[in-house]
Amino acid sequence: MLHIGRGAFALPLALSIALVAAGAAASTPKSPRAELISSCTVPGMVALTFDDGPYLYETNISQLLLSKGAKGTFFVNGNNCKSSLLSMVPITHQNNSKDECIYGTKVAARLVETYQAGHQICSHTWSHPDLTDLDEADMDVEFSRNDEALYDILGIVTPYLRPPYGSYNTLTRMVAYNHNKTLVLWDMDSEDSIGATVNQSVEYYKEFIANQSVTIALQHETIKTTAYGHYPRILQNTILTSGRFELLPQAIDLLQAAGYKLVTLAECLDRPAYTVEDGPGQRNASTWNCHDLPSSSSSTMPTGSLNSYYSSATRRK
Ligand SMILES: *[C@@H]1O[C@H](CO)[C@@H](O)[C@H](O)[C@H]1NC(C)=O
Ligand SMILES: *[C@@H]1O[C@H](CO)[C@@H](O)[C@H](O)[C@H]1NC(C)=O
Ligand SMILES: *[C@@H]1O[C@H](CO)[C@@H](O)[C@H](O)[C@H]1NC(C)=O
Ligand SMILES: *[C@@H]1O[C@H](CO)[C@@H](O)[C@H](O)[C@H]1NC(C)=O
Ligand SMILES: *[C@@H]1O[C@H](CO)[C@@H](O)[C@H](O)[C@H]1NC(C)=O
Ligand SMILES: *[C@@H]1O[C@H](CO)[C@@H](O)[C@H](O)[C@H]1NC(C)=O
Repeated sequence: MLHIGRGAFALPLALSIALVAAGAAASTPKSPRAELISSCTVPGMVALTFDDGPYLYETNISQLLLSKGAKGTFFVNGNNCKSSLLSMVPITHQNNSKDECIYGTKVAARLVETYQAGHQICSHTWSHPDLTDLDEADMDVEFSRNDEALYDILGIVTPYLRPPYGSYNTLTRMVAYNHNKTLVLWDMDSEDSIGATVNQSVEYYKEFIANQSVTIALQHETIKTTAYGHYPRILQNTILTSGRFELLPQAIDLLQAAGYKLVTLAECLDRPAYTVEDGPGQRNASTWNCHDLPSSSSSTMPTGSLNSYYSSATRRK
């Protein structure tokens, strides 16, 4: 099962074949594989999760959650320009320049604020690739580069990683295991990133709540109408409108009215949120930059760098 929940999208045929091939090739010895999670375990709790940030609406989402006594979980990328460009935000908000990667002054500050508000921060890889397209070395970069940024900025090491598109194969799980990650999927997809109107997403919430089948809900913080909105939604030059433009306030109200406590992923799993938690770091202009943007193969991420974080007494800030 690659995709969990309503949002399962059809994999292109070529990719499906590649997945089968990779799975078969890698399945020979009993290599350890990362754990997969798509549901919470503590009854009565739901984790609202937000992918693809830290983006422009993160603070709005954070504040809205807090105002309703809720906590969220943010699966963030180090540099997700491409995904942001593809997302359905008004065209005038689409400039995520290189400087606006996770080390960007405003972006890093936004992330620290969200973290300090008590929300949970997890990894969504550095640049949001489909991990099933990558070899082990490129996956290492995607995992380590983002972990390095999260440690630099927040002083955390997260044990949780959500594979972009919910896409993974055996190799992904083996590499994730090597990075000490648990792969986190979802059991309810609001479909906000694949064209659902707010009203449609609200209907999905109602159905999943009626079925008691939502414990980890997927949203995207790059979707303005998930956070709030007064704009029409734009997808491929088509204006999509809906009666009420905010998904999140409605989703929170529906879940809370049904008696759910909206907590972090760690809380609803009853596990620690972080492996390391040293507190936010100080900006260092020589290392807090995105000059070695991945385009994956050209990245200069040093190998084994995270091990040095675990073992070294000196923090690289
Ligand atoms: C979203 O957050 C920004 C920055 O905090 C704020 O200026 C703006 O008013 C907020 N928008 C809404 C609709 O809450
Ligand atoms: C985005 O970039 C384009 C081209 O550089 C520029 O014309 C436009 O004003 C920018 N938009 C914003 C919101 O910064
Ligand atoms: C790996 O992650 C688990 C939590 O998932 C944590 O308990 C453990 O300490 C981590 N191991 C290392 C070497 O960081
Ligand atoms: C809810 O349960 C019904 C009956 O089992 C099923 O047909 C439907 O697909 C479920 N819907 C959701 C959103 O889980
Ligand atoms: C969305 O739902 C609201 C409330 O039920 C309704 O008033 C509005 O007309 C709906 N919008 C669309 C486009 O269906
Ligand atoms: C910034 O990082 C560089 C490279 O790791 C290091 O040599 C330098 O001492 C750091 N500067 C500060 C102010 O921490």
